Amino acid sequence: PKKIILDVDPGHDDAVAMMMARIHPAIDLRAVTVVAGNQTLAKTARNALLVAEAIGLACPVAAGMARPMVREPILAGDIHGASGLDGPVFGEPALALDGRHAVDLLIETLLASDGDIAVVPTGPLTNVAMAMRKEPAIVEKIERIVLMGGSYQLGNVTPAAEFNICADAEAAHVVFSSGRPLVMMGLDLTRQALCGADVVERARRLDNSVATLFVELMEFFTKTQREVFGWTAPPLHDPTTVAWLIDPTLFETKAMRVDVELRGEHTYGRTCCDYFGVTGREPNAEVAVGLDVPRFWDLLIDCLALYGR
Ligand code: BDR
Ligand code: CA
Repeated sequence: PKKIILDVDPGHDDAVAMMMARIHPAIDLRAVTVVAGNQTLAKTARNALLVAEAIGLACPVAAGMARPMVREPILAGDIHGASGLDGPVFGEPALALDGRHAVDLLIETLLASDGDIAVVPTGPLTNVAMAMRKEPAIVEKIERIVLMGGSYQLGNVTPAAEFNICADAEAAHVVFSSGRPLVMMGLDLTRQALCGADVVERARRLDNSVATLFVELMEFFTKTQREVFGWTAPPLHDPTTVAWLIDPTLFETKAMRVDVELRGEHTYGRTCCDYFGVTGREPNAEVAVGLDVPRFWDLLIDCLALYGR
């Protein structure tokens, strides 16, 4: 199985990415590192523990950076609620966080590896960038980065920028310029993964505890995505990263040079993607452009169905 570290800010779609990574036999989830993003670090770390418990996760879960490298923090309570994971009713977390800082857990896990671990960020890139700066030797050890973030078309937090990149564009710059192979699941791709009532209904019929948690998460997420963006079915962003690692044939990607805008007044946090190759510069990312939508939902439902088997 493919070894990965998931770096998350749960977050409804982060929680689903955790489910897929935990359940699918093609993935060996070595660590979950948590960053501030959709909500404060205290809340995203708590949510990660709650999800970890609900899905029977065995690997360490560590809390990391509580704020971005340079900019002031932004949160996404309008989409994910006051808790960052509104909808399901949770008790107090029974699991505890790993004693290490997430940046150190990333460094230790990567340094101890044979260079065969993929880093999979589904939140702002603060933890990953800080780890690269604290211990540059990890960069070569990262097999590849498969991240959710950015857009070559429209943004969602500003007209130009996507949330994960805009929430810490300086960190995103560090990661995109790291020189490691990088797969970008931007909004162009995730807006093809619209989680309709039919998908939720298929999950409901599975009738296991993880599928039920998925249904409860999607009920809330569907409501806020409709209120904020007018989607009748919400884009399920983060699980596309794990899906790519399980079965890249679900995706069409295009090699592009991607630079993160750090100075624009209206464009801070934009991923400037050289779609047509007009700069003539070497591509630094495989940017996802197309999704086999029916097979993506089949994979997600298969994961949920596998739970407990
Ligand atoms: C990204 O922002 C967050 O709200 C989601 O969890 C996802 O990672 C989408 O822009
Ligand atoms: Ca996220």
